[in-house]
Amino acid sequence: MKVLVLGTGGREHALALALSRDPNVDEVHVAPGNPGMAAVAERHPVDPLDGTAVATLADKLGVDLVVVGPEAPLVAGVADAVRERGIACFGPSAEAARLEGSKAFAKEVMAAAGVPTAMARVCTTPDEVADALDTFGPPYVVKDDGLAAGKGVVVTDDRDEALAHAAGCERVVVEQFLDGPEVSLFAITDGRTVLPMQPAQDFKRVHDGDAGPNTGGMGAYTPLPWAPADLVADVTARVLQPTVDEMARRGTPFAGLLYAGLALTKRGVKVVEFNARFGDPETQPLLALLDSPLGVVLAAAAEGRLDDVGPLTWRPGAAVAVVVAAEHYPATPTTGTEIHGLAAAEDRDGVQVIHAGTTTDDDGRVLTSGGRVLAVTAVGADVADARARAYEGVAAIRIDGSHHRSDIAAGV
Ligand code: GLY
Repeated sequence: MKVLVLGTGGREHALALALSRDPNVDEVHVAPGNPGMAAVAERHPVDPLDGTAVATLADKLGVDLVVVGPEAPLVAGVADAVRERGIACFGPSAEAARLEGSKAFAKEVMAAAGVPTAMARVCTTPDEVADALDTFGPPYVVKDDGLAAGKGVVVTDDRDEALAHAAGCERVVVEQFLDGPEVSLFAITDGRTVLPMQPAQDFKRVHDGDAGPNTGGMGAYTPLPWAPADLVADVTARVLQPTVDEMARRGTPFAGLLYAGLALTKRGVKVVEFNARFGDPETQPLLALLDSPLGVVLAAAAEGRLDDVGPLTWRPGAAVAVVVAAEHYPATPTTGTEIHGLAAAEDRDGVQVIHAGTTTDDDGRVLTSGGRVLAVTAVGADVADARARAYEGVAAIRIDGSHHRSDIAAGV
């Protein structure tokens, strides 16, 4: 099987690595990819947002499957353009990707499907926002309705900050704050059958102790030894399957990766958000432990025959990813800084350095090119062991001005 992965980030590097480990996959191609992927995939300088260019590349390469990594191409209809060319594609249609592309649409689907979530109001004027903030009270949760590259959500006790965030958006969803630990649970689906992955946890705030602004994610680990034993079954029955069924009922089946961001509240599990693609950085530790052949599973999902595949299987142990971010991230990150110690980090037992915001210069030096630069990912016998290995890997990396959280998966 030949597979083309679209995207440039850590999630796409993890996908390319896991695909390259699948004995059924002969060739992995990436567009445009990043320097870390070059060891396992051939790179092609094609814009992943350009559906026609992607479909033409897929045709030319003769790939059997295209895997769309990020949300923006999905919302832009790139998966539709590939399928129209008669090529299997893992990723929902533009219509179905609205589950991520519009927070208001996701709320509407959840209401229709009876999926537990926070009470919310869709607001388009400052008066509506103020009224909703006062109805729900602090902490205030204000979400940009559209895609915002991880910067659309503000959770704050400061009413003025909540109002200011809303003022910068065309339409927002103001919702009740959900207490309790957050969990990311992903499911691979063909629009009918749902195959849940194991749960992971993401660390969204930039600083230790969950302080500072939200980011795309500063680290993640899996599995969650503290989670209820029936969590996956419960969320599959009450969230994932009803959502997939409701999308099919509407005539816009969701086939691809359904990401449920959940809060384990005192009153049960509730959905914080849906995404229409693999999470980043949760995908890095999840795919490090996935035992099922990823290419076979994604192809079956893309071709509507996921019930042939059976439950996903996992390696024993745990995996932890720690993100190394560029200076000033999540504000405007410093780019062009040289990255040292990549080989030394990967010399550590169990460690894989996943690239995200990296590039190379004419001399072959690896430089920063984005906010989240690397996800140093390690597997181990349990979470504590994987965590220790991941941080040994992080210690081997040197990027002037970079920062990382020191409490990823601490105390688990
Ligand atoms: N880790 C959060 C996200 O992928 O949206």
